[in-house]
Amino acid sequence: MILFLLVNSMCDLCCSYCFYTIGHEKRDSSYIDSQKAEIFANAIDRIGFKSVILTGGDPLYSGLKEHSYALIEELKKRGIRVLINTSGAKLDDVDYDRLVRLGVDRIDISINSYDEAIHNSERGYYQDAVRLIDEMHKRGYRELATTTVITPTNSSFAAPTLSWLLDKGVEDARFQPVFMAKELQDYSAIGCAMNACMKIVSKPHTEHYVRLCEEAFTDPNCRVDDCQMGKNYFVCNAKGDLYPCFHVDERLCNILSDDLDFTRMQIRKSSESKRGACFGKHCVSLFDNPIFWKE
Ligand SMILES: C[S@@+](CC[C@H](N)C(=O)[O-])C[C@H]1O[C@@H](n2cnc3c(N)ncnc32)[C@H](O)[C@@H]1O
Repeated sequence: MILFLLVNSMCDLCCSYCFYTIGHEKRDSSYIDSQKAEIFANAIDRIGFKSVILTGGDPLYSGLKEHSYALIEELKKRGIRVLINTSGAKLDDVDYDRLVRLGVDRIDISINSYDEAIHNSERGYYQDAVRLIDEMHKRGYRELATTTVITPTNSSFAAPTLSWLLDKGVEDARFQPVFMAKELQDYSAIGCAMNACMKIVSKPHTEHYVRLCEEAFTDPNCRVDDCQMGKNYFVCNAKGDLYPCFHVDERLCNILSDDLDFTRMQIRKSSESKRGACFGKHCVSLFDNPIFWKE
């Protein structure tokens, strides 16, 4: 089982499309304090999560990153795989060295275009994101992934961005649609991007994967059962509240205060229940085989 852990809701960036900017999520002052790192790691370990994806906000947000480093240390002590989603903003050599030393298993850097102006118009801190890729590679760190959120603005640059990422040695380049309010949601941009990227990298199942995504995005009756949220993937906030998905409000339990039997029962019930559409659509980016060009 894999846990998305929202360690805070703060970020050095304010991306134009971000769940927090568009009002889908609300920032608050809660974060996983270094003093709670041990009890969080114990709870996560006891429940049986094998991998934890630290996200937010930003786990490496300049004002709170020390707390995340303490948490990573505790998780690694227990043999748990630690993956980080980050913008890379405001990091320096001390951070790059530390990430290597801590044995972080994967760093997923958000980058919206190879083009600095486009990236910065949606996110900001382009140079920092690129520096994180380059500096980690320089240190012999190979476990880099990238996430490119496809918007109407950057969609036509998706294929050259993929080529650029591959040239930089990033093999695990993920693309996902921007999610907007239901009435504004438009999946044509991701469709165009995927079709263009498919021409650059084509693996045996690429076409099938792209068709599957298109079906999930465009067919209102499509119920793709492959979404693993609430089954193998869960979401926990900085207060310890566990949810089946980012976009489902029904709290399952609190991993810090509820007893283990109750927590496990809630997880089992969630895994066995049939999920409906979320955020108005299936979160195709979270299919078990999310990268259509991966073996
Ligand atoms: C919420 S951020 C947290 C981690 C970190 N701050 C970062 O920038 O990667 C995780 C990912 O979600 C993406 N994201 C944010 N808002 C989104 C939206 N409305 N639709 C799709 N992806 C979104 C971000 O671009 C990023 O790749």
